[in-house]
Amino acid sequence: MAKAKTIYVCSNCGADSPKWVGKCPSCGEWNSYVEEISVKESVAQKRIIPGLADKEKVRPLLLRDITSQEEVRLDLHDEELNRVLGGGLVKGSLVLIGGEPGIGKSTLVLQTILRLKGVKTLYVSGEESSRQLKLRADRVEHDTPDCFILCETNLEQIFVQAQNIQPDLLVIDSIQTMFTELVESSPGSVSQVRECSAAILKYAKESGVPVLLIGHINKEGSIAGPKVLEHIVDTVLQFEGDQHYMYRILRSIKNRFGSTAELGIYEMRQNGLREVSNPSELLLTQNHEGLSGVAISAAIEGVRPFLIETQALVSSAVYGNPQRSATGFDLRRMNMLLAVLEKRAGFKLAQKDVFLNIAGGLKVNDPAIDLAVISAVLSSSLDISIEAGVCMAGEVGLSGEIRPVNRIEQRILEAEKLGFSRILIPYNNLKGFDTSKCKIQIVQVKKVEEAFRQLFG
Ligand code: TYD
Ligand code: MG
Repeated sequence: MAKAKTIYVCSNCGADSPKWVGKCPSCGEWNSYVEEISVKESVAQKRIIPGLADKEKVRPLLLRDITSQEEVRLDLHDEELNRVLGGGLVKGSLVLIGGEPGIGKSTLVLQTILRLKGVKTLYVSGEESSRQLKLRADRVEHDTPDCFILCETNLEQIFVQAQNIQPDLLVIDSIQTMFTELVESSPGSVSQVRECSAAILKYAKESGVPVLLIGHINKEGSIAGPKVLEHIVDTVLQFEGDQHYMYRILRSIKNRFGSTAELGIYEMRQNGLREVSNPSELLLTQNHEGLSGVAISAAIEGVRPFLIETQALVSSAVYGNPQRSATGFDLRRMNMLLAVLEKRAGFKLAQKDVFLNIAGGLKVNDPAIDLAVISAVLSSSLDISIEAGVCMAGEVGLSGEIRPVNRIEQRILEAEKLGFSRILIPYNNLKGFDTSKCKIQIVQVKKVEEAFRQLFG
């Protein structure tokens, strides 16, 4: 019997080499090579999807002969998921949903397919038994006659069953538990993940059945397995959130059929995930009147504006080096904002510990939250609370100027809708927006000093 050939594969990019190397020559990652048994060359050529072998090869087409009709999309009856996908699930697309263990990936997918009426779905689970899935289905309180469950990890078997059932939607939970007989290494290894996802992609493209693929993430927070996994799928969604909070956020990282700026918010309940269509109400539940160190910001994530509570705590540094910590906000950006405060506005924060927290476990990238961050820091430092009913939006520049932000109208309207009475916005940001109908008082500010005068008198 021929000796199994081992190769070394980069767990980051999937490149291989006959010898172990410390630094991947292809992606530059250190210490990423793992030993694997190579794909059996002779059988690797074989098609592993039955019934598709005799199809005619695809011929090249002239671009101008191709009709640009809209993609056929499957409505998933979940507004958040539909929006994040760019308006529903495109036929024949491969969607990867990544997330930490226990975050609710299986729940999200199961409750979604149980809600689909008249759509035949096949849910393949490599992690849970059919009884466990039944218990979960009972919990989410939805039922459909069209959902098949298959507990199987052998990909060839899965394709045979898919051929028999001919589903309209296939779910694979999870890619790391699947294996193909063509590769000898264990499930979850780089070559298994790569080969399996390539075969699933081929199935999706040739049969036109959309596939939802669930993937684990590693401890660095990226999807486990080679980067090629992310390259071959059409859409990568990340399901994130803090286990201790109820909120879960579905982010689109890559989308061939829509924008990646979209965001879906869910709340984990006893009976599954609930869509949160108005996130501001959820994020602003507490009554924080009279508390110092809290500022409300009108931020935009994706296409939706929402009001976010920014909390800061400034206290005297006990140890030599003051501590700086930020949750849900970029620490380097916070340090920059503190330096602006120190330099331009004359506040001595050098001997103070500064802690910053974005309430609700959210991570915010919108620069318009800057103004709320420095206002919260100052409010805590002075121990003067910001009047209730005031919110703000504005990016802060290095010289303490407040820079215009995008889509200010949406922010103002959201603040007004939620009953805020005053909003601080950057000077000259309104450009043509008719404010005469707004009931909310709009205050334009040029510099941070001006904003502070407005807030703290
Ligand atoms: P799960 O979907 O199994 O996570 P993943 O597939 O991402 O590993 O989610 C499991 C968690 O969700 C578990 O800790 C229990 C919780 N949960 C609820 O709070 N309510 C529910 O209705 C369900 C089904 C799960
Ligand atoms: Mg799961």
